Amino acid sequence: MNGVRPRVLVTRRLPSSVEDRMATLFETDVNAEDIQLSGDELLHGLENKDVLVSTITDRLDADLIGRLPRTVRLIAQFGNGIDNIDIEAAWAAGLTVTNTPSVLTEDTADMALALIMALPRRLIENNRRLMIERHWPGWSPTSMLGTRLRGKALGIVGMGRIGTAVAQRARAFGLSIHYFSRSRRPPPIEEPLNARYWDSLDAMLEAVDIVSLHTPLTRETHRMLNAQRLARMRHGSFLVNVSRPELIDETALVGELESGRLGGAALDVFEHKAGIDPRLLALADADRVVLTGHMASATLEARIEMGETVIVNIRTFMDGHQPPHRVLPEGQMVGGRMVTP
Ligand code: 8YV
Repeated sequence: MNGVRPRVLVTRRLPSSVEDRMATLFETDVNAEDIQLSGDELLHGLENKDVLVSTITDRLDADLIGRLPRTVRLIAQFGNGIDNIDIEAAWAAGLTVTNTPSVLTEDTADMALALIMALPRRLIENNRRLMIERHWPGWSPTSMLGTRLRGKALGIVGMGRIGTAVAQRARAFGLSIHYFSRSRRPPPIEEPLNARYWDSLDAMLEAVDIVSLHTPLTRETHRMLNAQRLARMRHGSFLVNVSRPELIDETALVGELESGRLGGAALDVFEHKAGIDPRLLALADADRVVLTGHMASATLEARIEMGETVIVNIRTFMDGHQPPHRVLPEGQMVGGRMVTP
């Protein structure tokens, strides 16, 4: 680093141990308010900076990337998903982009399982009822009957790291594993899971009881669960989403739930920028939907490891090496290795 400390803008507060470590290694400016920065605020904060540490709440579109100060050379995303960044525009502008995969896989998979269980076993509903009534009449053979998980078919959309970690957990609960992915996973992954690969998402949706989304948001996956696809899901089936809201046509989903055709939806991510859809909230009030606020990877351990990964990416880049978690536009090669976002 030639003794010169990189100048870094961090757009959101991070766990204190990460902020402290960054402050010892870099000239760090942290957005102490921890409120999403506007484009202009971001550009202002980046004056004379070398590195932007961004998160999912920063919209780095082609226009903003085109206006970045020339000193900025690295966008080190604090997060696995990079759908908030126009990767092609960053590539064209000669910027390096990195992310933090792997360290949040297990926690995200844990939360997916919690959500897979929440509706069929009526967890939130029962807790809410007890808290409202502040009285429990006692056990009876017919109270709070839910739906058994064991023996049901789980359809995983996107069998990457997180999808595979979900499948491993789901096996322990006796679910059969089905998956749709861009490519079939090799036997060492499929066989221990007894996983069935579907090359047609439409066909898989018709064959499973629970659908769980684990695919990144890209141009291809945007609204992949559109009205036609949602209509293919089995009567009474459940949908779980810990990925991105834009994967689903939410209005169509609400319609399927209101009509009673779908059994329920557990959503860690949902449209909220213009306010949460009141019909979705009404369904949550009626215990047909469980909503959690994008917390699937929210453990202190994951956040610290994400921060450490950001630091490693910045250090290696500033030392003139290939950062370990570089993200490239699809089809680009680095050192003879094909890297996909
Ligand atoms: C992160 C996520 O918390 O990493 C991701 O892709 O969706 C989240 O779990 C968030 O993106 C942080 O930027």
